[in-house]
Amino acid sequence: MPLVPSYIKKLNSYKPGKPISEVQREFGLDKIIKLASNENPLGPSPKAKLAINKALNDLHRYPDAAGYELRKKLAEKFNIKISNVVLGAGSEGIMSTIIRTFLLNDDELISAADSFIGFKVLANASGRKVHWVPMKNHKYDLLKLVDQINDYTKIIYIANPDNPMGTYITKKEFDSFYKYVPERVLIILDEAYFEYANSSKDYPDSMSYRYDNVITLRSFSKAYGLGGVRIGYGFAHSELISNLIKVKVPFEPSSLAQVAATAALDDFSFLSDTLELNRDGLAFLISNFKKLKVQYILSVTNFITTIWGNKEEAEIITQKLLENGIIVRHLESFGWPNYIRISIGLKDENQKLINSLSKIL
Ligand SMILES: Cc1ncc(COP(=O)(O)O)c(C=O)c1O
Repeated sequence: MPLVPSYIKKLNSYKPGKPISEVQREFGLDKIIKLASNENPLGPSPKAKLAINKALNDLHRYPDAAGYELRKKLAEKFNIKISNVVLGAGSEGIMSTIIRTFLLNDDELISAADSFIGFKVLANASGRKVHWVPMKNHKYDLLKLVDQINDYTKIIYIANPDNPMGTYITKKEFDSFYKYVPERVLIILDEAYFEYANSSKDYPDSMSYRYDNVITLRSFSKAYGLGGVRIGYGFAHSELISNLIKVKVPFEPSSLAQVAATAALDDFSFLSDTLELNRDGLAFLISNFKKLKVQYILSVTNFITTIWGNKEEAEIITQKLLENGIIVRHLESFGWPNYIRISIGLKDENQKLINSLSKIL
């Protein structure tokens, strides 16, 4: 018997973007602009920071395993019961729990090929068969996903909006897809960029689809600026949630993550500043991409993906931006070798990106 299962041996480890410190050292630069990981350029919610400071004296205590305060707050905010809410170390933490909770021996999964890499890693690590359906026009091809449903299908994963495309499936598209999905199949709607996308009129906020087989996942890593503490939440039917809670790592999320997220939910001005900055930054980048004749994919998120002639061109642009102190994400490891994803930054960061890009081009 081999020590390591073959499906684990075959996995490629996740290759994160270059850390700021490494780029500083490599190019002898003081100031680095990181537009590579879809983080909030404003930093963390100030209310969350205050809450973390207050909680520091209790670090010797274990976290509340039930996550009561935050689950209660989320339940009130979204008008559901606490029994419909689960927390995790990031929404990826919950994804991992879902995979461990619901998959039986021969169960299979379906998703889009080359969509969110975090799910790809978790699904492949499960050792189960995964049907990866190519995207169409940079979007999930929902009807092709339906074609893959069989007696073994257990989970369909949809990132809406998608990362790295920034595109979303509409209400109409989701409705016509949903009617073909048997009730025994769980649909994960990953809404990590919900706060940004929700202003699009035909965006299907999954809270209006409280079907028994739909699990909504959301994150505090993006609009609330809390990627570093790892906190996300999920909504679903109480039977699904109660089983997820049995399986999740007992003391996740950490106490600091719980208090930070609870406080961040009340930080309305931070959220609205975040959304406004993002809206303006996205419009600024798009108008300059047009001037520079850079091809891009329309996005409803806090990043925008650009398309280049070929892999070499994308590599050169990424490298030259790096030499100018700007880290962006070449999407080769995601399966898109001629694409570069750029997170929306602060006003002057976006300006510097455009200045560098026009110099390079
Ligand atoms: C589509 C999508 N889902 C989930 C996540 C992960 O979020 P979290 O930090 O809450 O685990 C990301 C982060 O980039 C994402 O793009």
